[in-house]
Parts: sequence; structure tokens; C-alpha cells
Amino acid sequence: MRLKNCYNTGDFRKLAKQKLPAPIFHYIDGGADDEVTLRRNTEAFNGYDLVPNVLTGIDSVDLSTEVLGQKLKLPLLFAPTALQRLFHHQGERATARAAEKVGSMYGMSTIATCSIEEMGALTQAPKLFQIYVHKDPAMTVDLIDRCKAANFDALALTVDTIVAGNRERDYVTGMSTPPKPTLASLLSFALHPQWSLNYLFRDKFDLPNVSKYVKDGSDMKSSVVDYINHHINSRISWDDAAKMIEQWQKPFAIKGVMSVADAKKAVEIGASAIMLSNHGGRQLDGSRAPFDHLKAVVDAVGGDIEIILDGGIRRGTHVLKALALGANACSGGRFYLYALAAAGQAGVERAIGNLRNELERDMMLMGCSRLADLNETMLALRPRC
Ligand SMILES: Cc1cc2nc3c(=O)[nH]c(=O)nc-3n(C[C@H](O)[C@H](O)[C@H](O)COP(=O)(O)O)c2cc1C
Repeated sequence: MRLKNCYNTGDFRKLAKQKLPAPIFHYIDGGADDEVTLRRNTEAFNGYDLVPNVLTGIDSVDLSTEVLGQKLKLPLLFAPTALQRLFHHQGERATARAAEKVGSMYGMSTIATCSIEEMGALTQAPKLFQIYVHKDPAMTVDLIDRCKAANFDALALTVDTIVAGNRERDYVTGMSTPPKPTLASLLSFALHPQWSLNYLFRDKFDLPNVSKYVKDGSDMKSSVVDYINHHINSRISWDDAAKMIEQWQKPFAIKGVMSVADAKKAVEIGASAIMLSNHGGRQLDGSRAPFDHLKAVVDAVGGDIEIILDGGIRRGTHVLKALALGANACSGGRFYLYALAAAGQAGVERAIGNLRNELERDMMLMGCSRLADLNETMLALRPRC
């Protein structure tokens, strides 16, 4: 498998699997427990069929939209994901540059492998910073101040990770940060010399947004589970979220909302958006797929708050279905992470380019020239036997 043969997310996944040592590949690819939710996140889109309109006289398609106060050329955001330097030596820089080129929003994780300040200077892309609230309250204040100084446009508070999900693939492979070969994984690192050389001889692995406060994960070996369970504040509440909105004063999203009741609370405290998400099936297995719950949330709070459908997006039609059901935009992680692992920035550009082409073609086939033309009448529930 080579980059020029990658036509869809599945192709990039195959190439990523070829390029990465097993612990790293499975960290991206895996989910919690039996991975039921991970699978459902994508399968859910098959619950509705598209019903196109014809003879609408279209000769071009406009995919632009506005979300979190930013004008975007594409309704698909790059969800924040941790540790990108492990997936490719270009790490977050590749993702942010690709987001800028395509005119989308780049999401940076608290657990990124480059700093808020570097990213602020590197890219003109609209930027969202995803914040994990750590036990040390000084960290939250510091991270928000740093994002303000680096001109980030939006903040997303992740609320579905107050304890680590049970990602069994990571136990089996011995995944840690920094990665250290174990007896089980030694062979896999040895069989991927290009990755290993890039890891050893390029920029040193670091978690610069947090390493001033927390040594685990950058200077000290830690599993992702230990990092989350030792350092993330599980007691965070709606009051804390409301205080952060006050401190931030710019567009603010709550990432990991699923229930209608919580969506209403997000409206009450003045959040700009919710990211309807189960963390890509990496946290609570058996939890509902965002797409399956989208209609209930749109019916309750649509128009009062922006709704970003996050998770399971592998095709342009998935985005169209979510928008037709009332989402303002979508976001995703693995669609670009496999591509990053496969070929760095060129890979991410090709992946998002493929999805943009799919979206344009599918909009034409649906008879729509603007995203606002999509609506629920263009979807039909699949009959269940
Ligand atoms: C490897 C990986 C790392 C992630 N790291 C974070 C993170 O640091 N913070 C966060 O809020 N979400 C994180 N996520 C979740 C993504 O933001 C997003 O919710 C998820 O990937 C969506 O599902 P998808 O991969 O099917 O698109 C991560 C996901 C993956 C796959």
C-alpha cells in the first residue's frame, strides 16, 4: 500500500498499520472494552439513507460554513488528538498546516507534542485548544492564559475523560509515553526501523503544554491510563465549566456531551457549542453513537447552541447525513491520524482532500449547492427487520 493508492480512510488505515510499531498503531486504532461503541460510531450512519433531489440545476458546490466564530471552507474540523509526534515525526505541525491549506479548524490537544506558543506562531488556521482539567488548578489558569496570548480562537473542555477508558489493546502492546520497547513490543519496533530512527534522531519527544507541571509522560515513562488517573481532575462540575467560560471570553465548546439534559445545561451556562462525542469509542464502551443521538439533541437545543457531531466520520456522506439531521459541523480524529501516520503532512492533505472531493460530489448528487440546502427530508430511516 502506498500514498498514491489511498482513496479512503480504510486505505490510510492499512498504510498506517504498515508504517507504525504495534503499540502506536493500536493506540490510534483501538477503543475501550469490546470496542462496540467504536464500531457503532461509524455503523450508525447506515441507519439513515440519503434521499436525493434531482434536476436542481447545480453547477458548483459551496461547502463553507461558520462555527465557533470562524468562517471555514469545510464543515469538517480536525478534532484534538494527543501525542501526534509518535504517529509521524512532523506531528501536530503537519496536521495544522493541512488544516490551514484546506481552510478548516485545527484542534490541539492539551497532551500535544508541540507547544501552544509554537502552534500560535506556526499557522493562520482557525485554532481550537482542547483543555483537560488537571488536579493542579494553576495549570488550568496557565493553559487558558497561554491560549489567549497565542491567539487561539476557541476552547473545548473535554468532559468524558475523568477516568481513563479501558483500552485493552494498550495493555497488550505495552503502550507508554515516551514509548519504551517491552519484551512484547521489541520486535515490532525493530521491524519498523524508519519509524524508530525518526523517533530517536528527530525532535525529542515532549508534552510541552504540561511538562512544566507534570513530568509523567514526557520525562518519566507513563501509560496513558496512569496519566489520566493520576492527573486529571474527576471532580470537575458545571460550575467549573461556567467559570472557564468567564475566564476565556471567546467561543467555548464542551466536548463529550451526549445527553439531552447535559446539552440543555451547556446552553444554560452559555457555552457556544457542544461536541456530541464519546471520544471516538475510547472511553465508555456501550455508550450511544453520536449520530444515533443527534436528532434527539437537535430537537432539544438546535438553534440555541452549535452542535458539532464528533466521531465515526470516515466518508463524505457521513458528514452530509449529520448536517442534514441538524448538526452545524462535524469533527473527527482517526480520518486524519491514519493519514498522518501514513505520510505526514502529504498524507493529511490527501485524506482531507479526498473527503472534500467526496463532499462536493455527494452534494451535487444530492441536488444541493449549499450546506443550508441539506435538511431532514433528504434522509429516510432504514427500515429495521
Ligand atoms: C489517538 C487519539 C488520541 C486522542 N486524544 C484526544 C485528546 O487528547 N483529547 C480529546 O479531547 N480527545 C482526544 N481524542 C478523541 C478525538 O478528539 C475525537 O473525539 C475522536 O477521535 C472522534 O472519533 P473518530 O476518531 O472516529 O473520528 C483522541 C482520539 C484518538 C483516536
